[in-house]
Amino acid sequence: MTKHLLIVFSLFMASSYQQQNHAPVVKINTPANNATFAAGSPISYQVSVSDKEDGDTKFDEINLKEILLQVNYVKDQNKIAALLKSPVADDPLGLAVITRSNCFNCHNFNSKSIGPSFFEICKHYPPTKANADSLVSRIKKGSSGLWPGKEKMPAHPELTDEEIRSTVQWVFKNESDPNITYYNSTPGLIRIPPDKPGTYIITASYTDHGVKGTAEKRLKGYDRILISVK
Ligand code: HEC
Repeated sequence: MTKHLLIVFSLFMASSYQQQNHAPVVKINTPANNATFAAGSPISYQVSVSDKEDGDTKFDEINLKEILLQVNYVKDQNKIAALLKSPVADDPLGLAVITRSNCFNCHNFNSKSIGPSFFEICKHYPPTKANADSLVSRIKKGSSGLWPGKEKMPAHPELTDEEIRSTVQWVFKNESDPNITYYNSTPGLIRIPPDKPGTYIITASYTDHGVKGTAEKRLKGYDRILISVK
């Protein structure tokens, strides 16, 4: 009997081991850690990702639009060490929905793509309740003719109202923070305003897709560097 249980237990351990999700390994290849740049000039970045389940950027197996870069202006120089050591949290719901859904096929944070950038959208609509309600409704039902160009935004019946609302709330909140700028995809260019020299922490991250066919939790990998802009 005991032997029997032992076999069942080892089979269970073996199967759960096979289904274990591995965290992605994210690496910022450029810029180099501690590099210095002139204020106002664009800074090229390039990030690679390797994930046991999802694949590797070097074999074109990772959807590059799901690689995020967060650029944080460090206001208080005394906090640098603590900031560099603090763990990177899971993406908030709104950002996770934007990354997982098809939004990045048509929207970038800061530059025009098929649709307007999130930056332009926030410039156009102050973060009021009424604006949030109408943006939620347009993302849900689709939109055309409001912005220059002939492109349309499709409806998003696959997302719940709560998920759509979380994307709008996240975009409003993120755009109102002058010290954090996001970029999606790699390679790309970071633009630091000429009037904002200082120290910046750059965090590249990728949240994997878990193990296919199981409810295994998705894991986030990241790499973090510091640059100074003079
Ligand atoms: C196939 C391309 C495409 C996809 C996918 C897409 N959008 Fe759009 N989006 C557009 C276009 C084009 C517009 C401008 C529509 C217009 O002119 O009315 C737009 C407009 C918007 C607006 C502004 C609407 C307004 O009232 O002015 C928001 C907010 C927005 N998109 C968010 C999202 C989010 C969030 C997602 C993902 C859940 C998403 N979009 C997915 C193309 C897309």
